[in-house]
Amino acid sequence: MAGTLPNRYLELVKSSVAGLAHERVFGLRTWEFEHGRARWSGRLAHAFVAALARAANQELVVVRPLAVDERKQGGPWPLCAETMIGKVRLDHLQRCIEQVLAEGVAGDLIEAGVWRGGAAILMRAVLEAHEASDRTVWLADSFEGLPEPDPSRFPADRGLRLDRYSELSVSLEQVRQAFDRYGLLDDRVRFLPGWFSDTLPPLRDRTWALVHIDADLYQSTSEALDNLYPSLAPGGFVIVDDYGVLGPCRRAVDDFRARHDIGEELERVDSSAVFWRRR
Ligand SMILES: C[S@@+](CC[C@H](N)C(=O)[O-])C[C@H]1O[C@@H](n2cnc3c(N)ncnc32)[C@H](O)[C@@H]1O
Repeated sequence: MAGTLPNRYLELVKSSVAGLAHERVFGLRTWEFEHGRARWSGRLAHAFVAALARAANQELVVVRPLAVDERKQGGPWPLCAETMIGKVRLDHLQRCIEQVLAEGVAGDLIEAGVWRGGAAILMRAVLEAHEASDRTVWLADSFEGLPEPDPSRFPADRGLRLDRYSELSVSLEQVRQAFDRYGLLDDRVRFLPGWFSDTLPPLRDRTWALVHIDADLYQSTSEALDNLYPSLAPGGFVIVDDYGVLGPCRRAVDDFRARHDIGEELERVDSSAVFWRRR
C-alpha cells in the first residue's frame, strides 16, 4: 500500500519514534561510555565535575549530533527519540506484522524490553493502520532498567553491567505518556511491569503472532525465549534485536535454538537484529 494514507501514517510514526522527523538527532552516552579510556587528566577533570553534578543530584552525559544514516542503522542511544532501534529494523518490524495480519496468523504482539516504548508504539500503530482491532500489544519491562548480572546462573553475562546505566531506566509512566502523545494509549496496549522471570511465566497460555525481544543479557533473552516461544503460533515471527552486537544475547539465542532443535533459518535484519519464522 505504498503511498496510501495508512502507509504514509506509518512512515511518519517510524520517522518520529526513531527521531528522524527532526532536523538534528542527538545521541546520548554517559561520559564513562564515551571517554572511558581518556587520558588521566581528562579522567581527573571528569571525576571532579561528576562529583559536583552528583552533589546537585545531576548526572554527567555526553550529547553529540548523529548523522541521519547512523540513526537509520540504530547507532548510539538517541537523546529524545522513543526507540533506539533504527529505521531499518522498524521497517522490518512493520513488514513482519503486516505479513502475520495478511496471512491471518493467530495471536497478539509482545515486546520484551521496551525502554521508551518506540518499537511498541509502531507495533500498535501498524494494528491501527490495518484496522486490526482484535489484537493487543503487550509490553514487558522492569521499567527500571536491566537486572544486575547473575554470573553464577548465567556466566555469559559476567561483566555486562548495563544495570549501571540510568539512561536505560524508563518508567512505566513515561512509556504510557509516549503512547498517549501518539494517540495510541488504549485497552489494546497492556503493560507487564516487573522482571521477566515474574511477568512472563503467567502468559504461557496466550498465543503470540510476533515476539520482539530486545533485552541485551543472556538471562533476559533466555527468559523471554523460554516463556514466549512455546506460545508462538505457526507462521509467527520471533525477532531478537541484539544478536549481532551483544555476545551474551547471541549465545542465548544459539543455545535456545540448539536446545529445542529449531531448524528454521536464522535470518539477519541488519548488523544487529535477527529473526526466524516458526513453521
Ligand atoms: C535495549 S532496551 C530496549 C530498547 C527498545 N526495544 C527500543 O525500541 O528502544 C532494553 C530494555 O530491556 C529491559 N530489560 C532487560 N532485561 C530485563 C528483565 N530481565 N526484566 C525486565 N526488563 C528487562 C530494560 O529495562 C530496558 O528497558
